[in-house]
Amino acid sequence: MNNRSEQANDTVIDAGIDSGSLRVLQVSASSRYQDSMSRELLLRITGGLQEKYGNIAITERDVARGLPFVSEDWITASYTPPASRSREQNALLALSDTLVGELQDAEVIVIGTPIYNFGIPASLKAWVDLVARVGLTFRYGKQGPVGLLQDKKLILAITSGGTAVGSSIDYASTYLRHVLGFIGITDVQIVRADQLNADAAVKRAAAHEQIDALVHRLEMPRYSAA
Ligand SMILES: Cc1cc2nc3c(=O)[nH]c(=O)nc-3n(C[C@H](O)[C@H](O)[C@H](O)COP(=O)(O)O)c2cc1C
Repeated sequence: MNNRSEQANDTVIDAGIDSGSLRVLQVSASSRYQDSMSRELLLRITGGLQEKYGNIAITERDVARGLPFVSEDWITASYTPPASRSREQNALLALSDTLVGELQDAEVIVIGTPIYNFGIPASLKAWVDLVARVGLTFRYGKQGPVGLLQDKKLILAITSGGTAVGSSIDYASTYLRHVLGFIGITDVQIVRADQLNADAAVKRAAAHEQIDALVHRLEMPRYSAA
């Protein structure tokens, strides 16, 4: 999408503000659909964005509905140069290509996830394995790996029963921050409703406040608030 275009007489039209929709990728990972706090927080974030910008296009990717794990053939296909891939290899990579395309297209990525056994749900790890693609979302440079996704904002909504987000036993937010940074997503904001086993209502209200403030602060220079 171009946010500035020039006519033959060099008049710049549309100087910065994009008239298209803000593109949001919403990734949900809780295996629960009833009373899921992380899904509730996701909805509040996307609802807030909708209210602020008026016009947003949301792509929903519910990884809890099931994604395949990478296989030996899949790994071989992903490391085979695109021009040399067989039809079968392209077919094996098709879902991964779609998931990568969703990330590439998004300007804001919102992930809602619980902590499961001190880390992320297996379904979300399956998604990570499918979007960390050599040549597409990262490459090996002279000085090591280089993330290829650029100019994305990530909002991570994370819930837990007893594990404090940011503590030394939280391998969920630390892992996501690292692996998504590895593929180039480095602008990360974390919203948490953690340790919900005690004072859940208070923590829920605090998370809602955090979200409202975050959405208010969010700057998307190409879009004007509604
Ligand atoms: C399989 C499973 C593992 C869990 N492991 C942890 C954990 O390691 N630490 C923790 O604080 N909470 C743990 N919980 C609690 C969830 O993180 C908590 O209930 C969270 O609110 C779930 O998110 P949701 O409401 O969106 O489903 C676990 C829950 C389940 C179902």
